[in-house]
Amino acid sequence: MNVMNTTAPIINLHNISFSYPGGRTVLEDLDFQFYKGDRVGLIAPNGSGKTTFFHIVMGLTTPTSGTIELFGKEVAHSKDFEEARQRIGFLFQDPDDQLFSPTVLEDVAFGPLNLGKPKDEAIDIARQTLADLGLAGFEDRVTFKLSGGEKRLVSLATVLAMEPEVLLLDEPLNALDVDTSKKIAEIISNLDLSYIIISHDIDFALYTTDKICTIADGKIQFEDDAHVHEHRHIHPHGKVPHQHEDV
Ligand SMILES: Nc1ncnc2c1ncn2[C@@H]1O[C@H](COP(=O)(O)OP(=O)(O)OP(=O)(O)O)[C@@H](O)[C@H]1O
Ligand SMILES: [Mg+2]
Repeated sequence: MNVMNTTAPIINLHNISFSYPGGRTVLEDLDFQFYKGDRVGLIAPNGSGKTTFFHIVMGLTTPTSGTIELFGKEVAHSKDFEEARQRIGFLFQDPDDQLFSPTVLEDVAFGPLNLGKPKDEAIDIARQTLADLGLAGFEDRVTFKLSGGEKRLVSLATVLAMEPEVLLLDEPLNALDVDTSKKIAEIISNLDLSYIIISHDIDFALYTTDKICTIADGKIQFEDDAHVHEHRHIHPHGKVPHQHEDV
């Protein structure tokens, strides 16, 4: 056993910079370390580079400079990412980027099948995952005819069915109604997984994660305690005095 790797970050980005061709610099000298058990919320303005950051971690976008280590190993070329991708469940911001099979069951079973599970087992996992997300009965629905919210949930099912070690969720509540959002928040917070969640919903992020970060000046920046305490949602029952109440 490699003792060093047991304490290494499972995602380690160093000096990452990125610009889209002809565009402004989106990420600049970004450093980010993410450890097993971390549950991080990423809240930052539109266009600040959140999705780009996830795409770089997944190897879908190649940074202009910098290094990436996943699970203690440096990854550089697309084939290096393939193994890591089997362990990281990535929820795309747009479900249409995620779903490609004719029916819901085929889409959700695809991941387990691709990981080498026998067909019966993959189908069982897919059915169970759909049921857990309140989608029992959707198995034979035509994927591209689902509503936006239904597509979002099926996308989440495709990710969870792969039983990943880490989740990167890009706006998982997008297009979901209030009750479904609450249910998804409950499901996510009960997962015994490490994850990073991009969201514009501070309440959801605070409920499901332990640390909140943002992107500013092209870098991931963790909120310090004093800043987080500004939000009324942190201590809804007023148990901890607010630093800013008298200001
Ligand atoms: N394929 C692309 N080509 C050129 N520019 C792009 C491309 N994709 C994104 N951008 C630009 O890069 C910047 C960062 O985009 P990104 O999608 O990472 O932002 P985001 O923080 O996820 O935003 P949102 O909250 O709207 O999802 C934006 O200014 C965007 O317009
Ligand atoms: Mg985005």
